[in-house]
Amino acid sequence: MVAVTPWLTHHLPEWWTDPARFDPDRFGSARAEDRRHPFLWTPFGGGAHKCIGLHFGMMEVKTILHRLLLAFRFTVPEGYVMPQDFTSLPIPKDRLPMRLERLA
Ligand code: HEM
Repeated sequence: MVAVTPWLTHHLPEWWTDPARFDPDRFGSARAEDRRHPFLWTPFGGGAHKCIGLHFGMMEVKTILHRLLLAFRFTVPEGYVMPQDFTSLPIPKDRLPMRLERLA
């Protein structure tokens, strides 16, 4: 049996620059750290059965987020650090105390 742990792979310091830092630019075409190895970035799996909805899924999420960010301000309590629940996919253990305020 082979077990793959994306959380671990996605935090390997020998492959990612400052892996724990929120740094969306690491995925941009200039740096493309996720392309250094075919199995380094695996939210959509990899190899022959890699998700066929990858590009559609990314566009869909960006479209939804775009609409939400235009309509709401998202905040969490100051200094908040999200406790992770790794039971299945990584999700907030405390259900995430996020506040949404409608923008004008
Ligand atoms: C954020 C959204 C999505 C995530 C995170 C995701 C993730 C995954 C993962 C992890 C796999 C398994 C890949 C593997 O075995 O290596 C997979 C397979 C698959 N996904 Fe997605 N997926 C997403 C959206 C979609 C969408 C929108 C579609 C269709 C429009 C889709 C269709 C499929 C199909 C058909 C497979 C099976 C591919 C095969 O076995 O050959 N997925 N997906």
